[in-house]
Amino acid sequence: MSKKKILITGGAGFIGSHTAVALINAGYQPVIVDNFSNAEPSVLEAIEKITGTSVKCYNLDCCDAKNLNLLLQKEGSFDGVIHFAAFKAVGESVQEPIKYYKNNLSSLWEILELMDKSNTTKIVFSSSCTVYGQPDSLPVTEASPIKEAESPYAYTKQVGEQILTDRVKNGGMQGILLRYFNPIGAHPSSLIGELPQGIPNNLMPFITQTAKGIRKELSIFGDDYDTPDGTCIRDYIHVMDLAEAHVKALQYMEDNPETAIDHFNIGTGNGYSVLECLNAFERANNVKVPYQIAPKRAGDITQIWADTEKANRLLDWKASRTLEEAMRDAWNWEQKLSQ
Ligand SMILES: NC(=O)c1ccc[n+]([C@@H]2O[C@H](COP(=O)([O-])OP(=O)(O)OC[C@H]3O[C@@H](n4cnc5c(N)ncnc54)[C@H](O)[C@@H]3O)[C@@H](O)[C@H]2O)c1
Repeated sequence: MSKKKILITGGAGFIGSHTAVALINAGYQPVIVDNFSNAEPSVLEAIEKITGTSVKCYNLDCCDAKNLNLLLQKEGSFDGVIHFAAFKAVGESVQEPIKYYKNNLSSLWEILELMDKSNTTKIVFSSSCTVYGQPDSLPVTEASPIKEAESPYAYTKQVGEQILTDRVKNGGMQGILLRYFNPIGAHPSSLIGELPQGIPNNLMPFITQTAKGIRKELSIFGDDYDTPDGTCIRDYIHVMDLAEAHVKALQYMEDNPETAIDHFNIGTGNGYSVLECLNAFERANNVKVPYQIAPKRAGDITQIWADTEKANRLLDWKASRTLEEAMRDAWNWEQKLSQ
């Protein structure tokens, strides 16, 4: 039987590359589309090294309808799409909102049009826990209210969810919205991982780069939040656990053709503060990381972690890797980067 072919937009990026590995491991055939605005082509070789399978990749912009039409002519229909392609830096989105609205929204509707033209009926959308804004109670469930977005980035995810929901309601399409919490770590082979450009926006690469001496000290943005140690709390999930949730989401749509649209929190269910994470990193790897307290960042919320019961029950998925494992994998990846 031929393998199911899945289009992964942004598939050369951090989560996309790990998802390509998870898809291959589960017997799917991923096809990547990426414009390499935030990825390196060497990722493709690394995926091949890990899986023993070469992955077809098209270097094109998902906002470019003309090139997407060429893709359609070459590939025809897909068994599913996982739409990762987007810009993701919360702080940058506050500085450059139009860049974020343009890329994150037009890439989505161009992909939806491509799906319609090619009779592709299943899509998994990369959403984010930022759609919940500053939650009133914790942990957040999928029924928690969608609050005012704290940044243009978060708003692109809220609007993206709405665009997809409206399209799916129109018939002939199934969609799963995965609301990711905070992905960290790397593939245990250390062949793929997070590759931030410039000063990292996310905590994990900032920690690993500081541990390696690339950065003088880690900046912790604010220590007077209303949390036990004053630093922000997030739900950090190993990127391979997150990647595997995409496979489960595709399988869920295949097994439940009556499902039109559904949302799932993808986290671990545990919240850790920035200082707790730093301590976990130092313990797991036996290295010290110098840090300083910096001003709070625009768009950061105080604390959030997931209720994952719905994903555990319906998707038959549960995060299985520990925080320490993620810390070790992230550090091994960082150390291997210069070799
Ligand atoms: N990493 C996180 O903390 C996090 C959390 C929640 C949600 N998300 C979402 O998950 C998705 C993937 O995130 P990631 O961490 O892997 O980011 P990433 O930047 O590593 O990956 C995104 C990929 O998309 C590509 N891309 C961007 N715009 C494109 C376009 N118009 N056409 C083609 N390719 C394009 C980039 O080159 C990159 O390879 C994004 O939608 C992001 O918003 C990420």
